[in-house]
Amino acid sequence: LSGSEVIVVSNREPYIHNRTDNGITLQIPASGLVAALEPITRACGGTWVAHGSGTADRETVDTYDRVAVPPGHPSYTLRRVWLTEEEQDGYYYGAANEGLWPLCHIAFVRPVFRETDWRMYRAVNAKFADAVVAEAKREDPVVLVQDYHFALLPRMIRERLPRATIVTFWHIPWPNAETFGICPWREEIIDGLLGSSILGFHTQAHCNHFLEAVDAYVESRIDRERDAVTYGGEETLIRPYPISIEWPPAALAGQKSVEECRAAVRQRLGLPPEMRLGVGIERFDYTKGIIDRMKAIDTLLTDYPEWKGHFVFAQVAAPTRSKLANYRQLQEEAEALARDINVRHGTEGYEPIKLLVRHHEPDEVFELFRAADLCVVSSLHDGMNLVAKEFVAARDDEAGVLILSAFAGASRELAEALIVNPYNAHAMGEAFNRALTMPLGEQRERMRLMRDQVRERNVYRWAGQMLLAASRLRKRQRIRR
Ligand code: G6P
Repeated sequence: LSGSEVIVVSNREPYIHNRTDNGITLQIPASGLVAALEPITRACGGTWVAHGSGTADRETVDTYDRVAVPPGHPSYTLRRVWLTEEEQDGYYYGAANEGLWPLCHIAFVRPVFRETDWRMYRAVNAKFADAVVAEAKREDPVVLVQDYHFALLPRMIRERLPRATIVTFWHIPWPNAETFGICPWREEIIDGLLGSSILGFHTQAHCNHFLEAVDAYVESRIDRERDAVTYGGEETLIRPYPISIEWPPAALAGQKSVEECRAAVRQRLGLPPEMRLGVGIERFDYTKGIIDRMKAIDTLLTDYPEWKGHFVFAQVAAPTRSKLANYRQLQEEAEALARDINVRHGTEGYEPIKLLVRHHEPDEVFELFRAADLCVVSSLHDGMNLVAKEFVAARDDEAGVLILSAFAGASRELAEALIVNPYNAHAMGEAFNRALTMPLGEQRERMRLMRDQVRERNVYRWAGQMLLAASRLRKRQRIRR
C-alpha cells in the first residue's frame, strides 16, 4: 500500500486534550480500539478522524480542527469532528451505547432502540462522511472505519468516493441472526456495512453470524467458499482478524523491575510486602463481569478462609458512559458489594477488595500488572479483550496467572489461561484458589506459551493482514479496469 493515502475513522480519539489547573494535559483513553489502532497509525502516518471530546480541543488546533500527534513526535494528523450535545446523546449514548452495544454483547441488558437516536446516528455518520471526503486528497484513499458507531459510514463513503478501498472493523461481537433480528434498523445496518470492501470481525464465529444475518435480512448472493457477499453489484469480503496489541508495548519501556513494581504498588495500596495481589482493570462496564468476579472472591474467602488476610484484589474501574443509568447503577452496585465483602471478610487493617475508581494511564496499568500475582478478565461477552493480552505482555518475568472468561475472544488464543465461566461464581472461586496455589514452574510454562502467541500475533500482524488484503484487492481492481 506504499504511496496510498490512509484515513482512520473512529468515534474515540487517540489523545484527549483537557484543560486543567496545570495547563493542557493529555489523556490516553481507556479503549481497546485506541490501544490497537494508535501504534498502527503512528507507523502508517495519514489522518485519524474522530470525535473531538477534550475540554481543551479548541486551544490545540494547529490549523482549524486539526492537530499533529503524538505530542512531541508527530507522525499523523488528528482531525476532530465536533458534535453537539444533542448529537452525542442520540448517536453515541443512545443508538450506539443503549442500542447496538447491549444488542451485540448479549449481556442480558435490554437494548433500547429509539427512532430519534437513530436519526441522530444517521446524521452523525453523514457528518463523519463529510470529514473523510474533506480530508481525502485522492479519489482512492484507503479508509479504515472502526466499530459500531459507524455502521452506516462505509456506504456513505462508497457513494461519494466510489474508488476508495474501505476496510471496516467491528470491534465488538456480532450476535446470531435471530438476536440481531430484533434490531429495527437491521436492514439499514447491513446495507451500510456492505459498502465496505472488506469487513473484519475478531472471530470466524462472528463472521458466520454476520453472513447469517445477511442471508436472513437482505437480498444478496453469498459465496460461502470465499466468505464474500455480492450486494447491489459490489462485493464485500468478510474476514476474521483477531486484534492484538503492539509488541513490545510502549508502556513497558521505562518500567521498573517486577520486584520493584511489587514493592511500590503494595506500599501505595497500604499492603504488607508479602500480600498476594490480584488485579482487574477495565472501564466500569456491565459487559466486563465486575460484579461476578467480586462474587467469586466472596466464594473464595468463604470456601478457603485461609486466604483471609493474605489476599487482596485491586479492581481498577474507570468511570465510563456515566450519563447512562445502567452504568451509574453498575458502579453503585459494585461499590456496595465491595463494601459488603469487606465488612464480612475483612478485619482490622485488612480489606480484601480495593476499588480504585478513576482513569489510570497505561504506565500505571502496566505497573499494576507487573505487581500482581494474578489478573482476572471475566467479561460476560467481549469481542477480543486486550487487557488479557496486555497482562501477558507486561510479564517479562514469565510469572503470574491469567484467569480468563471463555466468552472473551481472547480465550481462543490464550488457551493456557485458567478459562472460566463468569456466570459460575463457585467455579471462578476455585480458579482463584488454583491461581494462588499454582507452582511457579507451571505459571512459567503457561505464561511462556501465551507470550509467544501475543508476540507473534501482535497488532502489526492484525493490521498487516488487513492492509495486505486491501492491497491485493486494489491490484486486482486496477487490472480489471
Ligand atoms: C470498546 C469499543 C470502543 C470504545 C471503547 C471505550 O472497546 O469497541 O469503540 O472506544 O470500548 O468506550 P468509549 O465509549 O469510552 O469510547
